[in-house]
Amino acid sequence: MKRLTVAIDGPAGAGKSSVAKLVANRLHYLYIDTGAMYRAFTWAMLKNHIDLADTEAVQSLTDTIQIRLEPAAEYCRVYVGDTEVTEDIRTADVSSHVSPVAALAVVRTKLVKLQRDMAASGGVILDGRDIGTVVLPDADLKIFLTASVEARARRRYLELQAKGSTDTLEAIAASIAARDDMDSHRAVSPLKQAEDAILVDNSQLDLQETADLICRIIEEKQ
Ligand code: CDP
Ligand code: CDP
Ligand code: CDP
Repeated sequence: MKRLTVAIDGPAGAGKSSVAKLVANRLHYLYIDTGAMYRAFTWAMLKNHIDLADTEAVQSLTDTIQIRLEPAAEYCRVYVGDTEVTEDIRTADVSSHVSPVAALAVVRTKLVKLQRDMAASGGVILDGRDIGTVVLPDADLKIFLTASVEARARRRYLELQAKGSTDTLEAIAASIAARDDMDSHRAVSPLKQAEDAILVDNSQLDLQETADLICRIIEEKQ
């Protein structure tokens, strides 16, 4: 049985990370959350008060930053240097700043290299926006996971409500739509379905059903 390299791309709230984690656990694959890397870089930009337009400071941070993912049972722990930022990279502040940071070519070059190194062993699932198109164009299997904006916003809303957030459904839908728009229209590595990716729309499927479907596709391919 061949241990595959699996790419899952798609817009915010499609279920990429939850599904990838479930599938990785079931098949004993390594899960690599590339969005967490862009969030960690953004966290460091905010912490060091670095302006997007300050190319020298961005370059210097790119040269020195150490971003590390440590696979844990249910999720990836994320570190910047020795600081664990697993929780801190999920704040609304980071979410609202991440897309412009992820549009910077120097940042992408650095993180894509890191992602390819982590994927080189096989038996891996990476989720993000450009995995099938740019990071691993030769991946064994590519899934483009999507759902309607309404379905995705409702999921995020329920998730945030459970954590005590008072954000409205409308505000979350607007934020998701804005991020989709920026991620899809940027010049470098925009979010788009790879030509050889399998399209999975899970607007009408729950998490388990989506994971079952993707496990079946992987097992057939293995
Ligand atoms: O979980 P959610 O879909 O909200 O976002 P994420 O996967 O954590 O990604 C956060 C942001 O990082 C995205 O909105 C993209 O701007 C960027 N990203 C990217 O540009 N390329 C990737 N491979 C992964 C994320
Ligand atoms: O990583 P991405 O932004 O694509 O999505 P996620 O963070 O994995 O999923 C967002 C939320 O939607 C989580 O709370 C999932 O449990 C939920 N979800 C769902 O309810 N039904 C699905 N079919 C997929 C995800
Ligand atoms: O670490 P090193 O630079 O030697 O390896 P790499 O050439 O960056 O490849 C690392 C991983 O990325 C391998 O799993 C390759 O299959 C994958 N890769 C790919 O899918 N398509 C490319 N055009 C380049 C690399």
